[in-house]
Formats: sequence, structure tokens, C-alpha cells
Amino acid sequence: MDLLSLVLLAVIAATLAAFYFVFVSFLWGAGYQPAPRRTVEAMLRLGEVGPADRLWDLGAGTGAILFRAARERGARVVGVEMEPLRILILRLRRRLGRHASRIEIRWGNLFDQDLAGATVVTLFLWPEAMSRLRPVLESRLAPGTRVVSHWHRMPGWAEAATDRETRVFLYRVPTRPPPNGRPQG
Ligand SMILES: C[S@@+](CC[C@H](N)C(=O)[O-])C[C@H]1O[C@@H](n2cnc3c(N)ncnc32)[C@H](O)[C@@H]1O
Repeated sequence: MDLLSLVLLAVIAATLAAFYFVFVSFLWGAGYQPAPRRTVEAMLRLGEVGPADRLWDLGAGTGAILFRAARERGARVVGVEMEPLRILILRLRRRLGRHASRIEIRWGNLFDQDLAGATVVTLFLWPEAMSRLRPVLESRLAPGTRVVSHWHRMPGWAEAATDRETRVFLYRVPTRPPPNGRPQG
């Protein structure tokens, strides 16, 4: 094989790998894009994330939100991710960082998690995933739990606060209706 063919092959392989890395997870709920630095700041600020919190990042990517929540806010964090290369990166970052005891990485589907102990949930997903996630959050999170989403709104929920500049939306999980449908009190 001559040099030109080798270079061409390398370019094609790199393009396919990049395409896989960014787009394959659209099959499960969202493609890959790390939340920008200022967006993460706004998410942690609006969510009032602090040392008493257990934050779940559903679709953790390579950890843009996760590691800063643990490092800068002292929160205990759980990152859920489905794509195996990103899981490798997350585990490597956890191992190399200084706050491993506060960071849990779970390889799995974000729709299947028990969300145990969550006080804050962060999201940067695609609209269809948000719609699917809403009943999951309503059934597994305590009313009042903070849910902070970047870019896409949670359909049917009223925003408690918004950062327009970075498109960050804060929600509080609504109170469940009583089983008989009648108002309580
Ligand atoms: C837009 S990225 C956001 C990454 C990170 N939360 C951030 O803000 O930097 C969405 C991530 O969700 C992951 N994802 C999509 N659907 C998922 C699913 N059903 N279960 C677990 N992870 C999922 C993707 O692999 C991708 O890494």
C-alpha cells in the first residue's frame, strides 16, 4: 500500500471514529457534546449544589458537570453513561483526580437507574429523552428535588428559575397527585 492510500485510510478511520463517538448515543437518548464551562457554572449555581447534595448526572459524557460538582461544590456525585469509551474516560478521570471517594460512575441506561438519594439531577439530553424521562423522575424522585437541564426544557413542568444566557432551566419535582385524584387537605 502506498503512502497516499495509508493517509486516506487513516483519515477515513478517524472520521468514522469521531462520527461514532459523537452520534452513536443518539440511539439511546442524546449525542455527545460536553456542556460548556459557563453552562456548568450556571447549572451548579441555579441548582444551589453544595456539600450536602447527592447529584446524579444522567448521561454523564466525559464528566464536564460531574467532576466540577465534586471538586468545586463538594457534592457526592453519580454519573450514568451508556457509551463504553466515555465510561473509560470517566473512570480514568476519577482515578487520576483527588475526589474519587465522592464520585461514582455507573455504566448503564439512564432510564433504568433507581436515583437513590438524589437531591439534584442534571441533564443535557435530547427532547425525546426529556419526555421519556419525566414520568421516571416523577416516580423515583422525592417532590421538591432539584432538576437542572441545559438547552431543552422538561415538557409539562414549570421552571423555578432560568439562566437565559446559557439556556439552563431549574425545576423542582412536582408533588404527586393523590391516588384517588382528589386534592389533599
Ligand atoms: C449531550 S451529552 C452531555 C454530557 C454531560 N452531561 C455534559 O453535560 O457534559 C449526553 C450524554 O448522554 C449519554 N446518553 C444518551 N442516552 C443515554 C442513555 N439512555 N443512558 C445513558 N447515557 C446516555 C450520551 O452517551 C452522552 O454522553
